[in-house]
Amino acid sequence: MLFRSTSSAPAVGEPLPLDPTAPVIRTRGIEKAFPTGPSQTYALRRIALDIQPGEFVSIMGPSGAGKSTLLHILGLHDHAWTGEYMLMGQPVHAMNSKQRAALQKRATGFVFQAYHLLDDLTVYENIELPLSYRDVPKGERQTLVADVLDRFGIVAKKDLYPTQLSGGQQQLVGIARAIVGNPSVILADEPTGNLHSSQAQEIMELFKQLNERGTTVVQVTHSEANAAYGSRVIRLRDGYLEQA
Ligand SMILES: Nc1ncnc2c1ncn2[C@@H]1O[C@H](COP(=O)(O)OP(=O)(O)OP(=O)(O)O)[C@@H](O)[C@H]1O
Ligand SMILES: [Mg+2]
Repeated sequence: MLFRSTSSAPAVGEPLPLDPTAPVIRTRGIEKAFPTGPSQTYALRRIALDIQPGEFVSIMGPSGAGKSTLLHILGLHDHAWTGEYMLMGQPVHAMNSKQRAALQKRATGFVFQAYHLLDDLTVYENIELPLSYRDVPKGERQTLVADVLDRFGIVAKKDLYPTQLSGGQQQLVGIARAIVGNPSVILADEPTGNLHSSQAQEIMELFKQLNERGTTVVQVTHSEANAAYGSRVIRLRDGYLEQA
């Protein structure tokens, strides 16, 4: 069932009244197609998904099933889809790009399958970036970034540029950047795909701790060991959500 069409976005410039008791994520009838020649290929079909506050959900499924496509929609990186999506009670489908950007900065932290660090910023500056978007005062930014650098054991790397780091180290910086602003929901696309197993375990422990403190976590993973840290697995196949 689709939402009643009365849900509308707040006017531009109004603060977003995020509802901490609403489902963090609620989608109905999400469809995503890519043009392929004269026709189109569906990457997602009829996705109806509810994720409650405090859940730790793993999205699994074969390569090409649509996992990254779905996560990018949930993380408000992709707007070319149809259907309905409520994020913490806010109707994403009814928002303009400015409202979606404000909601994204406020509510979400995203870990990309392929790092996406800014190459002309240092490690420190990359991690600080989401805080500057959120108008966190400079002194507080320094404390938060120092804290996360320390927690991830990358203090010595803070003045290096991403191209001077290994793949695993870049991924750590990507995760640090996603969590530094204490988002309500973390969306992570194979967050440990490029890490060796002890680093991977540390990252999963960290997600578990954040989750125990109330952060909702949604991760895409191919690893049963990683999925075991979560409280629920959902499976995608050929663009469809498999019913549990
Ligand atoms: N830009 C694009 N243009 C056309 N098709 C695309 C595009 N991006 C993704 N697709 C298609 O959408 C489908 C889902 O891709 P997606 O990246 O979401 O898969 P995935 O489940 O994340 O796979 P993996 O586990 O390999 O990361 C695939 O069939 C892919 O070919
Ligand atoms: Mg993927």
